[in-house]
Amino acid sequence: EPYETILVERKGRTALLTLNRPEALNALNLRVMEEVVAATRELDRDPEVGCLVLTGSAKAFAAGADIKEMEPRQYLDMYLSDWFAAWDRLGQLRTPTVAAVSGYALGGGCELAMLCDVLLAADTAVFGQPEIKLGVIPGIGGSQRLTRAVGKAKAMELCLTGRTMDAEEAERAGLVSRIVPAGELLAEALAVAETIAGMSAPVAMMAKEAVNRSFETTLAEGVRFERRLFHAVFATADQKEGMRAFSEKRPPEFRHG
Ligand code: HXC
Repeated sequence: EPYETILVERKGRTALLTLNRPEALNALNLRVMEEVVAATRELDRDPEVGCLVLTGSAKAFAAGADIKEMEPRQYLDMYLSDWFAAWDRLGQLRTPTVAAVSGYALGGGCELAMLCDVLLAADTAVFGQPEIKLGVIPGIGGSQRLTRAVGKAKAMELCLTGRTMDAEEAERAGLVSRIVPAGELLAEALAVAETIAGMSAPVAMMAKEAVNRSFETTLAEGVRFERRLFHAVFATADQKEGMRAFSEKRPPEFRHG
């Protein structure tokens, strides 16, 4: 296992990736970024993996980008290294991803959770973009994804004041799909992942692509995109199996093709 800051486990068709820098509340330094991106890209290419779960510790999903690592940086360091650009690759994975957030998901931690497809929160979760309190702004997409998730009013307030949201507020605002008691978070996230991983892998990829397209295009173009993918699923054996299983009143056995 070459990784220092993450743990990677396989459970059937689900891969569990745990951020593991407890001494820094999983602050996201360059090493974490490189390891998360490398591990998820490898898992994304593995046909035996149908869903990825990303989690942290009970106390912190991730308390942000690593402030101590950024403090001395100058503009040209940031620009020439394109600081944080590699995180974009997480949003480009084809395999569905589930974020299981317990405790702090602040700054880069909140942005990392928002890069995932399904966001489950423990009742202990705390979300926010407090960068402004450090004299900076979000840098991994927070100003864009938080605004799309919760709307302008709340995104503006959070980004301008640094105020955080608890799990209840985050669920009401539409940032998270569900709240789970903290002790059940991981089991629930793995159950969601197993459900997703049991679906036809190519069809799940298409469903993910279709939903994500809605963030990038107009309604008419998005619906056209969906329609083309909808037609395409009829080229899979899994469509035949899924519909036949329904008629035969039995669970489908998808073969991911
Ligand atoms: C580096 C961090 C860190 C971070 C915590 N630590 N967050 N180190 N970067 N983002 C370290 C602390 O320095 C401390 O190390 C150890 O983790 C434990 O943290 P404590 O502060 O002692 O824990 P606690 O008192 O429980 O407070 C938890 C906390 C607080 C409220 C989450 O740690 C906090 O406010 N962290 C920063 C949150 C934040 O501002 N995030 C946004 C980051 S900016 P030592 O060695 O002292 O024990 C960001 C930018 C994105 O994400 C793009 C902009 C460029």
